[in-house]
Amino acid sequence: MSSTIETTRLGTDGPLVGVQGLGCMGMSEFYGPTDTGEALATLERALELGVTLFDTADVYGSGANEELIGPFVRAHREQVVLATKFAIERRADDPHYRGINNDPAYVRKAVDASLRRLGVDVIDLYYMHRRDPRVPLAESVGAMAELVAAGKVRHLGLSEVTGPELREAHAVHPIAALQSEWSIFARGVERSAVPAAAELGVALVPYSPLGRGFLTGAFADAGQLDAGDFRRHLPQFTGENAAGNAELVAPIRKVAEQHGATAAQVALAWLQQRTGAHGLTAVVPIPGTRRRARLEENLGATRLVLGEEELAELEPISARVSGGRYADMSSTADAREV
Ligand SMILES: NC(=O)c1ccc[n+]([C@@H]2O[C@H](COP(=O)([O-])OP(=O)(O)OC[C@H]3O[C@@H](n4cnc5c(N)ncnc54)[C@H](OP(=O)(O)O)[C@@H]3O)[C@@H](O)[C@H]2O)c1
Repeated sequence: MSSTIETTRLGTDGPLVGVQGLGCMGMSEFYGPTDTGEALATLERALELGVTLFDTADVYGSGANEELIGPFVRAHREQVVLATKFAIERRADDPHYRGINNDPAYVRKAVDASLRRLGVDVIDLYYMHRRDPRVPLAESVGAMAELVAAGKVRHLGLSEVTGPELREAHAVHPIAALQSEWSIFARGVERSAVPAAAELGVALVPYSPLGRGFLTGAFADAGQLDAGDFRRHLPQFTGENAAGNAELVAPIRKVAEQHGATAAQVALAWLQQRTGAHGLTAVVPIPGTRRRARLEENLGATRLVLGEEELAELEPISARVSGGRYADMSSTADAREV
């Protein structure tokens, strides 16, 4: 693969990025053991092929993921659009603890810690990772806007918010991108957030676009994954849910065969075609991979266009998925949809 991918803009005045980004989370945590050399080679190859949006968060590996990609970002600072996130706190003494914090004082502390770990002066896109309902949204977004004024951050994003929350935040400061889970399996974001984003000109950055690998057929049950793999605790991938959900991958494979493509490519092409279907300005999926071969496979999706009949075959799938996206859905946008 040699040609580079096309570009699109995040938000009305946000950065221009390659139409597919790269999720870096799995390079440090959550999805089993990782090969650092191959992970770093994947970052370089991605940039060569036109990927410019690189996605991390302070919580991934408790800072280790920002430290891992920092040297790569610094070596290519002008080309890379660096996205990171704050809001999820962890504790060294309890690996399972997750606290959500949107306090303005915490926002200010978190950004400085991310800048230090990444070794850069400015973050291109700074997301609120999760909403903390104890803090008025306007206060948290106001604190994020102050980071823009201070030159620490260039553009703002939100993750896992509802449409009304997106509107409220956008009234405080323009939001360039909404990063939420969106895939053939997970379509809750279409309820209120996607229509609001379309109206406001906010780009969608779908996370887990491959259903954390499940849509590709790479695994059919959490029991096939390593003991420490985070996905072993996700209801969709365990027991009867997994057995039923694995059958739902068959139509994706069938569409893939019709194109001589892979299921991963169909899952990503489906998302690309949501742009027109929902009147969005941009949809930039960030599939996560630690390997060059899969990166190249995933980028092949940017040249794939699914027909109306094929889209119709994929349409009923999400309604048949059983089990939650997370074991605890309380901090997702779904929990706050009315
Ligand atoms: N905002 C949020 O709350 C949130 C939550 C989760 C993730 N994210 C972000 O979104 C990014 C992507 O999501 P994700 O990593 O959770 O899920 P994903 O992109 O849906 O799937 C990643 C998994 O699929 C595998 N994979 C990738 N390409 C493949 C292919 N072509 N064929 C077979 N398997 C393939 C990867 O394994 P290999 O690495 O071995 O290829 C990995 O296990 C993350 O890296 C992170 O930056 C954000």
